[in-house]
Amino acid sequence: MRTLSILASTFSLVFSSPLSSRQSPKVPFFLLVGDSTTAIGGGWGDGFLNHTLKAPASGLNYGHSGATTVSFRAGGDWATVLSQITTHQADSSVYVTIQFGHNDQKAAANISLEQFSQNLGVFVDEVRDAGGEPILITSLTRRVFSGDPPLVVQSLANERVAAISVAEAKSSKYIDLNIASEDYCNAIGPEASWRYNLFNATRQGDTTHLNEWGGTVFGRLVSDLLVEKYEEVFGDWTAPNATLSALLEEGLPA
Ligand SMILES: *[C@@H]1O[C@H](CO)[C@@H](O)[C@H](O)[C@H]1NC(C)=O
Ligand SMILES: *[C@@H]1O[C@H](CO)[C@@H](O)[C@H](O)[C@H]1NC(C)=O
Ligand SMILES: *[C@@H]1O[C@H](CO)[C@@H](O)[C@H](O)[C@H]1NC(C)=O
Ligand SMILES: *[C@@H]1O[C@H](CO)[C@@H](O)[C@H](O)[C@H]1NC(C)=O
Repeated sequence: MRTLSILASTFSLVFSSPLSSRQSPKVPFFLLVGDSTTAIGGGWGDGFLNHTLKAPASGLNYGHSGATTVSFRAGGDWATVLSQITTHQADSSVYVTIQFGHNDQKAAANISLEQFSQNLGVFVDEVRDAGGEPILITSLTRRVFSGDPPLVVQSLANERVAAISVAEAKSSKYIDLNIASEDYCNAIGPEASWRYNLFNATRQGDTTHLNEWGGTVFGRLVSDLLVEKYEEVFGDWTAPNATLSALLEEGLPA
């Protein structure tokens, strides 16, 4: 019996695992959900989709300027995303990145931290029910600096903790873009961080939204975080840019 089962497991080690590990998983298709810091014209979403994926991996950017975890559903975008999961899951592994916080935290939105967490949790459940896989992403840092030496003002700490707690409670994939982007901006300093500003790349003004190059840089950061944490899932579908990744890793302006 014992010998048999050892033989059986040896057989399965030698013959089955290499075969099953070589079964190529379906191509990833990304649906990006979030606010303006993900959206076209201000966010990292298109930089990620356009410049970090290796074809035929691809995706769609549903980031919506001004969106909260409440308005994204109320406005109909969420239903569209769920229907896109259905459309693409036959040919692809559908991943839904979910990044909010910048608008949810505004007093005018009247969304408590508990409600924010609950909404993220329901998004995670509904993505899974629809056949997709959620990836929670902590909020991209704002590039507001204070002090001497100037350091990023951490204004999204609660939202970061909430997103990570939800991911852990639900055993969902997540990446900590908030800390990674904060660390990077602290390393390169305010002047270099503001060169990614959407509107005025020379000063502190709107330091939340990204110009096209900023979208490419932080899109790469998202990709690097995904590959670092889930290499076996995303490594083969990533088009690397070693130059840019090295600058991000070393904390040098890109
Ligand atoms: C991504 O591609 C779209 C469509 O080609 C283009 O409009 C957009 O400017 C690109 N964005 C980035 C950050 O490369
Ligand atoms: C804020 O939300 C709470 C809880 O949902 C609600 O009771 C309250 O009326 C809202 N306040 C405003 C000003 O909308
Ligand atoms: C950008 O900031 C500089 C420095 O404060 C200022 O001179 C310039 O007018 C600003 N440009 C825009 C478009 O706001
Ligand atoms: C890689 O990144 C560098 C800047 O870090 C940029 O100049 C270059 O165009 C990028 N290459 C590609 C293929 O996107």
